[in-house]
Amino acid sequence: MTIKNLSSVSLAVPEHISWFHSFALPGGQMIDGLKTLSTLRAEADVVFADDITGKTVLDIGAWDGYFSFEAENRGAARVLATDHFCWSGPGWGTRDGFDFMHGTLASDVESLDVDVLALDPATLGQFDVVLFLGVLYHVKDPYSCLEAAARMCSGHLIIETAPALPRETLPAMRLYKPGELGGDPTNFWAPNVAALQLMLKAFGFSKVEALASPVSPDNPLRHKTRLPLLTRVDNNATHRTIVHAWR
Ligand SMILES: C[S@@+](CC[C@H](N)C(=O)[O-])C[C@H]1O[C@@H](n2cnc3c(N)ncnc32)[C@H](O)[C@@H]1O
Repeated sequence: MTIKNLSSVSLAVPEHISWFHSFALPGGQMIDGLKTLSTLRAEADVVFADDITGKTVLDIGAWDGYFSFEAENRGAARVLATDHFCWSGPGWGTRDGFDFMHGTLASDVESLDVDVLALDPATLGQFDVVLFLGVLYHVKDPYSCLEAAARMCSGHLIIETAPALPRETLPAMRLYKPGELGGDPTNFWAPNVAALQLMLKAFGFSKVEALASPVSPDNPLRHKTRLPLLTRVDNNATHRTIVHAWR
């Protein structure tokens, strides 16, 4: 990540921030969030596989803003970072990390505190590229939220999620007991890839591609042959997947 205002002076990173994203700061300082820098960098290379130079980018559920700042760094013309749950809602995070990194990077990324369902293309316009990363399983109404993200997108929608039911060929969605998925009671639903494809086609995307996340070596999407129908063991949502959808 390119840092503007490069300085060898140590930056005072506010101690009260519970970081989700990790960052490399000027002068070699590191911010170690829950999501490691190596994971973020590997994901970013798949998320931004298509050149985004000159594109407008909307990052839904940006939290500390790693992917928003990365989009800016990779040449996006305009980036809007949005969040609500962890910026001012009931989530355990705050937007202090985003604000600190925004200042540190002298970033031009814009920001808006808005729930995904309140995103409105009539007031905000559409974006060439929309990022919907790590949000889908947190919402109680995934169909409507994915539709809301799709409405904001004129070109390329990128979803990072944890699909369930990898061996089920019918489009299906699984509901988790509180805390069952990743020990996080704010996780509800996980669709399988067939359901993601069906929803994205219904929302007007002509081409959909689901890729095993680089951080999921055992993702069944890597198997060339179809696996037998689901077993209890793999009937969960541990296989992170990145889905690209194009209008
Ligand atoms: C697991 S974090 C993912 C952060 C980042 N996009 C990434 O992939 O690293 C989930 C994010 O979704 C946000 N989120 C959850 N529900 C939301 C909602 N209804 N509207 C907007 N953002 C939401 C949370 O605040 C949080 O920032």
